[in-house]
Amino acid sequence: MALSYRPASASLFEPLWAIEQAAHPYPWSESLLRSCLTAPYWGEVACTETPVGFYLFQQVLDEVTLMNICVDPVHQGQGWGQALLERALMRARAAEARRCFLEVRASNVAALALYRKVGFVEDVRRKGYYPCSEGREDAVLMSCTL
Ligand SMILES: CC(C)(COP(=O)(O)OP(=O)(O)OC[C@H]1O[C@@H](n2cnc3c(N)ncnc32)[C@H](O)[C@@H]1OP(=O)(O)O)[C@@H](O)C(=O)NCCC(=O)NCCS
Repeated sequence: MALSYRPASASLFEPLWAIEQAAHPYPWSESLLRSCLTAPYWGEVACTETPVGFYLFQQVLDEVTLMNICVDPVHQGQGWGQALLERALMRARAAEARRCFLEVRASNVAALALYRKVGFVEDVRRKGYYPCSEGREDAVLMSCTL
């Protein structure tokens, strides 16, 4: 099934909030997601008939930070996360960004593998940055040239 893309906007909050809560073991708060659906943040929603995933960037001049990317668990493992990330990087390039940064939990093996697969490299780790069920875990900071 082909994906189509729509701008991530406040009108899509409800389906995106449902995906956020289903996909992330440590989901964002409702208010954080709402705030990232307005400028200066931007992104897109991948849809079949309904939204199945989304990404969100913060852009400052020629740098973007990937704030979030997720795919509804029902639709994971069939290449859509990679398609969404490649689309996001293409759109960032079109918006004249030259470098993309992100931060991910060290335990998030799926996301780490995806990021490495599309060309992100690890820059540094922040020890014990995130609270987690076993205490705290590292944040992995990664980047790629666009
Ligand atoms: C990370 C995420 C977006 C991947 O989406 P997806 O649609 O399942 O990924 P794809 O099917 O496109 O897989 C692409 C690549 O990701 C990696 N990957 C995906 N799932 C994986 C898993 N369970 N274990 C290890 N690697 C995995 C692999 O490198 C895979 O390539 P391969 O199939 O050639 O091995 C999805 O797991 C997700 O939404 N996770 C929750 C939200 C999250 O953690 N977001 C990132 C941090 S903000």
